[in-house]
Amino acid sequence: MTSTLSFTRTPHPSPATPERIAEVLANPGFGQFFTDHMVTVRHDTTRGWHSATVEPYRAVTLDPAAMVLHYGQAIFEGLKAYRQPDGTIASFRPEANAERFRRSARRLAMPELPDELFLGSLRELLAVDGRWVPEQDEESLYLRPFMISTEVGLGVRPSAEYLYLLIASPAGSYFAGGIKPVSVWLSTEYVRAAPGGTGAAKFAGNYAASLVAQAQAAEQGCEQVVWLDAVERRWVEEMGGMNLFFVFGSGKDARVVTPELSGSLLAGITRDSLLRLAASLGHTIEERRVSTEEWEKKAESGELTEVFACGTAAVITPVGSVKHADGEFTVSGGGTGEVTSRLRAALTAIQRGTAPDPEGWMVPL
Ligand code: PLP
Ligand code: COI
Repeated sequence: MTSTLSFTRTPHPSPATPERIAEVLANPGFGQFFTDHMVTVRHDTTRGWHSATVEPYRAVTLDPAAMVLHYGQAIFEGLKAYRQPDGTIASFRPEANAERFRRSARRLAMPELPDELFLGSLRELLAVDGRWVPEQDEESLYLRPFMISTEVGLGVRPSAEYLYLLIASPAGSYFAGGIKPVSVWLSTEYVRAAPGGTGAAKFAGNYAASLVAQAQAAEQGCEQVVWLDAVERRWVEEMGGMNLFFVFGSGKDARVVTPELSGSLLAGITRDSLLRLAASLGHTIEERRVSTEEWEKKAESGELTEVFACGTAAVITPVGSVKHADGEFTVSGGGTGEVTSRLRAALTAIQRGTAPDPEGWMVPL
């Protein structure tokens, strides 16, 4: 049923002019401008997935009693489309996003969008809005698939109706200031996610719950919050909306360590890709627990040489300084380490189509 779903295309009556697109792409920022079209697909319990459309980007009308507005069934994904040297467009491991979207849906008792429909929606949108994919090296078109519950009613139960949407936004560098080390605040008061909770899902509520901690980090003079485990407030989980890596030692012998998937952290696709890239560059990789004491002690002894965060939006961001309730310390002398730079260059070269892609991560759209 779903694999044969075809999209009804309604072209925008007055799409952005080439001049307007050039103006936006000259300084896109992150998530501020949107392309001419969007995709919508509906789901209900009797018909399954139906009514797939590509239509002009527009406001969505919701009944005030739509369940998402009250009980928050809302999940999303984030991936990028990159201009390749031959002018074509490709995205990075989109099947992994499709799979994670299904996992998030399961956790939130929402219907699973079949992978072919997820990937089909990306192709459909790029077919009409491909001219919004920037040419410049550090830029891309950020794709934001998401799903909300739309049934009208105030009973607390899974909605019988859902709306899947895909929108796209040209993206420059995620953090203003580009690749410079960030300062982080170790949050012991607030936690992002707890065992058995929703932390492993890309669930909108996780981001709502993070905002007060991010504000607390800012009050402490830090740019980002680092999440610790909910039980002991001791084991490092993530940084804001990114996964963390720790580098011990230097050069070829450097060990590349990331917190293991605890059930409450998000399994990043960048995280998985960097583990594989680090191994292919000859590093020993480890997925294990890292405590805040180990972080501080080994940063001070010099055994811990680099720390960085990674995710689709910002790719790789070094962590330069760390603050917690009892003090502060620096990593890499507050600069960007060599392993961090090498991994970033290796990953972005694959995404830009300027390096071989032995694992077939790039998928033409
Ligand atoms: N952790 C959280 C909480 C995120 O929101 C993201 C962003 O998607 C990541 C980690 C990194 O995931 P990915 O590398 O798949 O973008
Ligand atoms: C990421 O892609 O790294 C993100 O954290 C996405 C963010 C804008 C929610």
